[in-house]
Amino acid sequence: MTEHRIVSVELGARSYDVVVGDGALEASGHRIAALCPNGRAIVVADEAALAHHGQTLRRTLEAAGLKLELISLAGGEAAKSWDSVRSLTDRLLELGMERGESLIAFGGGTIGDLAGFAAAITKRGTGFIQIPTTLLAQVDSSVGGKTGINTSAGKNLVGAFHQPGLVIADTSLLTSLPVRELRAGYAEILKAGLIGDARFFARLEAAGTHGLSGTGLVDAIADAVAFKARIVAEDEREGGQRALLNLGHTFGHAFEAEATRGAIVHGEAVAVGMVLAFDYSVRLGQCSKKDADHARKAIAAAGLPTTPAQLGGGPYDAEALVARMASDKKNTGGAITLILARAIGETYIAPHADRSDLTEFLKEELKRQ
Ligand SMILES: NC(=O)c1ccc[n+]([C@@H]2O[C@H](COP(=O)([O-])OP(=O)(O)OC[C@H]3O[C@@H](n4cnc5c(N)ncnc54)[C@H](O)[C@@H]3O)[C@@H](O)[C@H]2O)c1
Repeated sequence: MTEHRIVSVELGARSYDVVVGDGALEASGHRIAALCPNGRAIVVADEAALAHHGQTLRRTLEAAGLKLELISLAGGEAAKSWDSVRSLTDRLLELGMERGESLIAFGGGTIGDLAGFAAAITKRGTGFIQIPTTLLAQVDSSVGGKTGINTSAGKNLVGAFHQPGLVIADTSLLTSLPVRELRAGYAEILKAGLIGDARFFARLEAAGTHGLSGTGLVDAIADAVAFKARIVAEDEREGGQRALLNLGHTFGHAFEAEATRGAIVHGEAVAVGMVLAFDYSVRLGQCSKKDADHARKAIAAAGLPTTPAQLGGGPYDAEALVARMASDKKNTGGAITLILARAIGETYIAPHADRSDLTEFLKEELKRQ
């Protein structure tokens, strides 16, 4: 067992810890129990995570003197639906869940987003604990309090800000994760470096594939979480700088919305989105080609796609992608807002993207292999 790292998300009275490490779950029973005052742990669990790590979860809760109330469902985007919210909140009310109790999410980002939203609206807000079981959820979605679901209009368009009281990122839960999912999560770690920490990015590059296991992975997760925690602490509700965390996401969400159902995963779309954001920054004369190529190389070295063709799930149409980008939450007055780069580790918010230029750019990018 490696030593655990504790990262604090500083939000005044709503501050909380993120415990990162191999075996962090079993070591955190007392922390969970402190947030479950009624002697029971109400857990919304991803079936796949439960099949592999249910024993660890049960052992931890039992040792902490908590009775398990388990609600399990299949993870994946389909879980982030009104139907899931309805059945989950019905079940929580049936259980007589009180505000002072904490709903525990045990799964990837989809289960975390769904459970967080249910916790935000049940009795106008119950407690909430995140035990993320995918790398993406450990480094990104479990921290920061964004929760929500998808609707026919797009991803994450309905939701609430609702901070967890505790996050436990246990790397031993990642052992069962398909390598494709692991890489997808790594894209979000690289994202932290690309957005605002060139030195972190250089460390990740130097660690190479060691960054995907052991202490290298614990450090990479903790550092990426600490980066996100700093931004969230300054701008919890995304009035400004927090939008930088969406690097690659405006492009990425458009691909996700247009792709053949189930063909791509979020982190892959973000990987391609980040490459496109750097390339578009070069086109606008904001970033050097050298830095954009450097970013592309690092993303490719992590085994991630860097072009829409490599991403799969197409064919894509540039106009349809731009129409999707126009419905992004960051936009104001119908104009598309992008997160662009001046260099590796230096990004900025670019409102009012030129739609026709963006369409031309994407037409060219869609031809790349
Ligand atoms: N709230 C936020 O701030 C935020 C940030 C980034 C992403 N997100 C959201 O996160 C979601 C993506 O999260 P994700 O990539 O974790 O996807 P996911 O929840 O769909 O999990 C990916 C797959 O891994 C399986 N799985 C989960 N844990 C496992 C384990 N330990 N072993 C084996 N299989 C396991 C799941 O069943 C699923 O099939 C998207 O909906 C995205 O919008 C939210």
